Amino acid sequence: MRILVTGAAGFIGHQVCVVLREAGHDVVATDALLASAHGAAPAVPAGVHQLDVRDAAELEHVLDGVDVVSHQAAVVGAGVSQQDAPAYAAHNDLGTATLLAAMVRTGCTRLVLASSMVVYGDGRYRSAVLGSVEPAPRDPADLARGEFDPRCPATGDPLSWEPVDEDAPMRPRSTYAASKVAQEHYALAWAAATGGSVTALRYHNVYGPEMPRDTPYSGVAAIFRSALEAGEAPRVFEDGRQMRDFVHVSDVAAANLAAIERPLAGFVPLNICSGHPIAVGEVAGLLTSARGGPSPVVTGEFRPGDVRHIVASPQRAREVLGFTAGVAPAQGLAEFAFAPLRAAASQGPPSA
Ligand code: UD1
Repeated sequence: MRILVTGAAGFIGHQVCVVLREAGHDVVATDALLASAHGAAPAVPAGVHQLDVRDAAELEHVLDGVDVVSHQAAVVGAGVSQQDAPAYAAHNDLGTATLLAAMVRTGCTRLVLASSMVVYGDGRYRSAVLGSVEPAPRDPADLARGEFDPRCPATGDPLSWEPVDEDAPMRPRSTYAASKVAQEHYALAWAAATGGSVTALRYHNVYGPEMPRDTPYSGVAAIFRSALEAGEAPRVFEDGRQMRDFVHVSDVAAANLAAIERPLAGFVPLNICSGHPIAVGEVAGLLTSARGGPSPVVTGEFRPGDVRHIVASPQRAREVLGFTAGVAPAQGLAEFAFAPLRAAASQGPPSA
């Protein structure tokens, strides 16, 4: 098949191109090479066309003959400042809307969308007395007292987490998360109106070789890894017991290949995760033991917009795509401790 990959010079998009080419597909690779991710005057990587997905005319040109679009391009990060909101809206939302409109004009009916677990906001929780509970955003006063777990509205006791499936409500807690929800909504409406198909892959915490080095916009695995390389202790926020699912970039690429090769009707969101939840403190511990120190420091700090636990159910991706992650975090993180990282292009915020 002929596949347009946007964001092809990024950490995930590059790996997606590699597995698609290995599987014999004809890949049209594009990337805007934004300064916030790639530096002020980036060299255009071999085989990549420099293209901003908001450029409708250029997009129409590269969509010629394309069977499936793999839309990996996005401004990422947890949203460091409210001032980042226009950049998320401009690149993620207007970019996706422009892409979908161009797909209609060129007759391309299939999209694989890079989405994120951030669409769920706080994950799923259970109270001993109320059953399933949707917690309100955490109160900064509780966090400042070191009370990190959301509480049961009836008893005030900490709630226990459960894995989220794809039917969990969307509750974005950051501007970045809001942009990922909007992307999904545009794609859902497009699929309903045109009869096109969208597989929205909700990535959990992706890590692996060539992950960008630490910036305020990097994922925690890269931040811990960069600290250790510099001989510094990883700084674990909250109490380190917050749960996530760390999924290796090779598994994320494999999930993309599966989604491209197995068309699904309509709009289908899928969690892409390892299925092995792990506490952030344990991630620091695994990386530290692999490198032989220095030991992590649990700081009690917290970030606005961070959720407490977000753990996924991998079941639906297994059922509908036949996708199961091959790299468990214990193995993948030990290898990641020495994997090459991509040089940080910029510490600056993204611009619209
Ligand atoms: C991350 C990504 C998000 C992506 C999602 C799914 C970032 C900033 N966030 O969300 O874009 O969509 O995965 O792939 O890339 N922490 C520390 N020490 C630090 C930094 C963070 O303990 O130095 C903690 C945070 O407080 C949080 C946890 O690590 O509890 C995870 O943080 P992060 O890597 O930013 O991931 P998510 O917010 O889960």
